[in-house]
Amino acid sequence: MSAKPWWEDAVLYQIYPRSYQDTDGDGVGDLAGIRRRVDYLEWLGVDAVWLSPVFRSPHADFGYDISDYRAVDPLFGDRRDLDALRDALHERGMKLLLDLVPNHSSEEHPWFRAACSSRDDPKRDWYLWADPGPDGGPPNNWLSVFGGSAWEWHEPTGQYYYHAFLKEQPDLNWRNPAVRAAMLDVMRHWLEWGADGFRVDVMWHMIKDDRLRHNPPNPDYDPDAPGFSYDRLIPAFTTDRPEVHDVVADMRGVMDAYGDRLLIGEIYLPVERLVLYYGTDGGGAHLPFNFQLVQLPWERERIEAAIGTYEAALPEGAWPNWVLSNHDKPRVAGRWGEPAARAAAVLLLTLRGTPTIYYGDELGIGGVTIPEDRVRDPHALRDPGTPTRDAYRTPMQWTPEPGAGFSETEPWLPLTADHERRNVEVQREDPGSMLRLYRALIRLRADEPALVRGRYEPVPGQGPVLAFVRALEGRRLLVGVNVSGERATFRPGLELRGEVLLSTAGDRDPVAGELSLAPHEAVVVAL
Ligand code: GLC
Repeated sequence: MSAKPWWEDAVLYQIYPRSYQDTDGDGVGDLAGIRRRVDYLEWLGVDAVWLSPVFRSPHADFGYDISDYRAVDPLFGDRRDLDALRDALHERGMKLLLDLVPNHSSEEHPWFRAACSSRDDPKRDWYLWADPGPDGGPPNNWLSVFGGSAWEWHEPTGQYYYHAFLKEQPDLNWRNPAVRAAMLDVMRHWLEWGADGFRVDVMWHMIKDDRLRHNPPNPDYDPDAPGFSYDRLIPAFTTDRPEVHDVVADMRGVMDAYGDRLLIGEIYLPVERLVLYYGTDGGGAHLPFNFQLVQLPWERERIEAAIGTYEAALPEGAWPNWVLSNHDKPRVAGRWGEPAARAAAVLLLTLRGTPTIYYGDELGIGGVTIPEDRVRDPHALRDPGTPTRDAYRTPMQWTPEPGAGFSETEPWLPLTADHERRNVEVQREDPGSMLRLYRALIRLRADEPALVRGRYEPVPGQGPVLAFVRALEGRRLLVGVNVSGERATFRPGLELRGEVLLSTAGDRDPVAGELSLAPHEAVVVAL
């Protein structure tokens, strides 16, 4: 039997590089800054860091528009800074995951420049071009995720090109073997350099219908409700196409040639579609990101059902994973409130599967109000009424000082109003803080193999209390979470007697018979 891969035991940590630590005084984070904080990451106890893109980019979508997949963007530093960060992490036994953005490049990528130069250019077919539709407008009704038509007219060559996101982010043509070969080479380049894996951007978008069929209208779309104009149609012909799985299998093939590396896919799909990205016989992504907790309300029945559905849907041998927040969606403390975010941290770190922590969640950063004149997110700027993602990308807060230890100048996005208290320096000294809770949970996971390797056994919930057991050999740990703002009592149909290993409400006496939980309290009990 081969050893278990490292990432099954790992706690992953996402860094949005613009917002972690500024060292060159421009108000934007950089690679030297992240390196400066490697000791903190070690203290926190995470095992791997995923960096949102640091590659050369005009930053129309803050690095998710890449113009050179092999170069570091000068905003973040240079190749030596990235080398030094890799080495600093590796020296401490931590892994480094890079962000691969293969679905689209920047419009400034030489490939796209060449494609635009003439219809006969050899790179023309590296992107998705089409003639106008019968009415002279766009070829079909496909919409951009960021608002408006997904087709942009290119006057000099008299055709439209497709962009799932901004017009500055033309989609690559993954049906073209030359595109595949080029991007797989990019992967090899970084794997040889020492990357421990990739998070693949919008994996489910990579192949579109070759017949360009119209997307059907979404019967549930309410134009008056807040939301994205993109939701007007069901993206049946632009996402999750059957052929995408061949692409993922090719990527996995590259990973496998380098040994113990991790392939994560960013995929927003219902669970039964999501799990197909594990691939036939496990030959797909190691971890298709599971965003259920990011999207659900903080309600016991909904969360319980989601866990159960997910566990049941996982194919043989597939390893689960959980996420609470990321740079695209409201932070957990913003969505559910800080007390619930503490309980959610317990869920994230005790459910079966690899957890990903989003930087700043460990401080309980919640909803930050972004004044209109400071909105930077291209999605919000382009699609009126869309909440701005800037609110989930504000700088990490290290100290009570004016720039929160993030920057000596005005940061590119505002800090939280309470940053003088909500920062690493203050929370490190406070045993009741969110930061100390995260650290204690990570330690508990490291000390209790049942939390990593144990079976997941659902325990029927009661009222607002969600519960499950993690069991390994003789060890049984009960996790109980009160999802409400009221005190709740839980009498599970199992022998309940044991030591409380951790509670979000501080030290507790052993429990016997029933479990009384404070509002939003979560506990781990050794049965
Ligand atoms: C992914 C990224 C998001 C970006 C989009 C387009 O969803 O997470 O930040 O805007 O892809 O690249």
